[in-house]
Amino acid sequence: MLRVSPTTPEPAVIAEAAAVLARGGLVAFPTETVYGLGARGLHESDVGLIFSAKGRPKGHPLILHVDGEAMARTLASTWPERASLLANAFWPGPLTMVVARAPHVPDVVSGGLDTVGVRAPQHPVALALIRAVGEPLAAPSANAHTHVSPTTAAHVVRSLGDRVELVLDAGPCAHGIESTVVDMTGNPPRVLRAGATSLEALRGVVPDVTYDAITMTGDAARASPGLASKHYAPRTRVVLADQGPKFSADLVKIAANATRVGVVVWSAEARSVTGATVALVMRAVLPGDPEGYARGIFAALHEADEASLDVLVLERVPDAPAWWAVADRLRRAAEK
Ligand code: TXA
Ligand code: MG
Repeated sequence: MLRVSPTTPEPAVIAEAAAVLARGGLVAFPTETVYGLGARGLHESDVGLIFSAKGRPKGHPLILHVDGEAMARTLASTWPERASLLANAFWPGPLTMVVARAPHVPDVVSGGLDTVGVRAPQHPVALALIRAVGEPLAAPSANAHTHVSPTTAAHVVRSLGDRVELVLDAGPCAHGIESTVVDMTGNPPRVLRAGATSLEALRGVVPDVTYDAITMTGDAARASPGLASKHYAPRTRVVLADQGPKFSADLVKIAANATRVGVVVWSAEARSVTGATVALVMRAVLPGDPEGYARGIFAALHEADEASLDVLVLERVPDAPAWWAVADRLRRAAEK
C-alpha cells in the first residue's frame, strides 16, 4: 500500500503504479466513486487477472477508464452524438456510457457483449494513472465478487488481500457510491445502474433518458449482468426499518430474536434511539442528505461485516428522486 495525495498525486508514486500495470500487474486505485481494481484494458491476460482476483464470473462486463472523449472514441465502433453531449457535461466524472464496441476491445472486457462501458473518472490519481500508462484501464470495484464496494484503501486490503499487487491510498472516496451506467446504444438512452450522477442532471442534457427502477432486477439485470442483487450485499443480514418516528418500534420488532444488532440511522427521530431501546453492537449515524449519506453507507456496511452482527437494521431513506442510487443499494443490500 502506498499513500498518494488525492489532489496532487506524487509523480514518483504514479510512475511506480504505472510500472506495475505496464508489466501486466494489478493496481487498486482511488476514483471519485469507489476504489477500482485496475489492469491494462486492452491486454486480455491482464484483464484475466482481475477476474481471478475478484472471483468474478467471466461474462460480467468491465468498465474501461479513459482520460476523456478522444480515448473513449477509440474503443467504440460508433459514437452517438448524444454521447458527446453527456461527455461534455459529465466527464471527467461518475458517468459510465455503454456504446458499441470496437473490434480490438477484448471479448473478456465486455463479457462477450458487442458493447463496452467507458468512463472518464474525475479523481486526479485515476486520471494521472491512465495518462501515465497511456491506454485505457479496465477497473471494476476493488472488492471480492458479491462483496460491498470499497470506499477506502483499507476496505480493498480487507477484501482482496495480497491478490492485488499494489493499493494506492488517497483516503476516502468523495461520492462513495458507483458511477451511473447509461446504455447509449438504444433510443432513448437507458439507465442500467443508478449512481453518483443524478437522473435529473442527465435529463438536463438528454431529456428522454429512461430509468425504470422496477425492471432493474429483471431485464436490465440481464442487460447489465453486474446488477444481480447479491452484488451489493454485505454478508450481514440486513433488514430495512421504517424511517423517522416509526423507526424505534420497527427496530424493537426486528431485533426481538437477535443478540448482536447494529443500526444505520439518519433522521432526527432515529438518531435519538439509544441502546436503552435495544442493545446495540454498532450504531452508524449518517447525514440526512443523499450525497452525504452515499459517502458513508458502504463504510457502514463494511463495519457491519467486521462486527459479526446477527442483523443490521437500516433506516429507510426518503422516497425521492435525489435518493435514487442510495435507495437502490439499500434494496439490494436487504435482498438475499
Ligand atoms: O464507479 C464505478 O463505476 C466503479 C469505479 C471503479 O469506476 N466501477 C464499477 O465497476 O463499479 P463494476 O465492474 O463493479 O460495475 C460495472 C457495472 C456493472 O453493473 C456492469 O454490468 C456494467 O457496469 N457494465 C459494464 N460494461 C457493460 C456493458 N458493456 N453493457 C452493460 N453493462 C455494463
Ligand atoms: Mg462492483
